[in-house]
Amino acid sequence: AIERTLSIIKPDAVAKNVIGQIYSRFENAGLKIVAAQMKQLSREDAEGFYAAHKERGFFKDLVDFMVSGPVMIQVLEGENAVLKNRELMGATDPKKADKGTIRADFADSIDANAVHGSDAVEAAQVEIAYFFGK
Ligand code: CMP
Repeated sequence: AIERTLSIIKPDAVAKNVIGQIYSRFENAGLKIVAAQMKQLSREDAEGFYAAHKERGFFKDLVDFMVSGPVMIQVLEGENAVLKNRELMGATDPKKADKGTIRADFADSIDANAVHGSDAVEAAQVEIAYFFGK
C-alpha cells in the first residue's frame, strides 16, 4: 500500500552536510519527499516527540542531542514507505547496521545515529501530525 512515514535527519548528519546524499537514497528507493522543514528543535519539541521514551535511561541524552543543532524533518511517501525507510536507515545502533545503510555510512553512535524513521503506520500518523499538522 502507499504509505507515508516521518523521517528526521538528525543534527549530526545535518552538520556533516549529507542532507542531499540521504535525500538521494530516499529518492532512489522510490520514496517521494512530500513535505519538509528544517528546524532547530526546542527542548519541548524534542521531549514531546520522544514522549514514549520518557522513562528510558537514555531520554535526557537523546533530548540534549536532538536540540544540539538544526534537524531536517520530512514526510516520505511511497509503496511500503514505513518499512522501506527503516531498511534504508539500518539498525538503531550503527555498529549493528547493515553495510550500505544510512546509519552504517553516516552515523557515529546510538545517539548520533543520523536519522529517525517512524516504526509503524500508526506511529507515522502521530509523528507527521506532530510536526506538520493534519
Ligand atoms: P530514534 O529512532 O530516533 O528513536 C529513539 C532514539 O533514542 C534512537 O533513535 C536512538 O538515537 C536513541 N537511543 C539511545 N540509546 C538507545 C537505546 N538503548 N535503545 C534505543 N534507542 C536509543
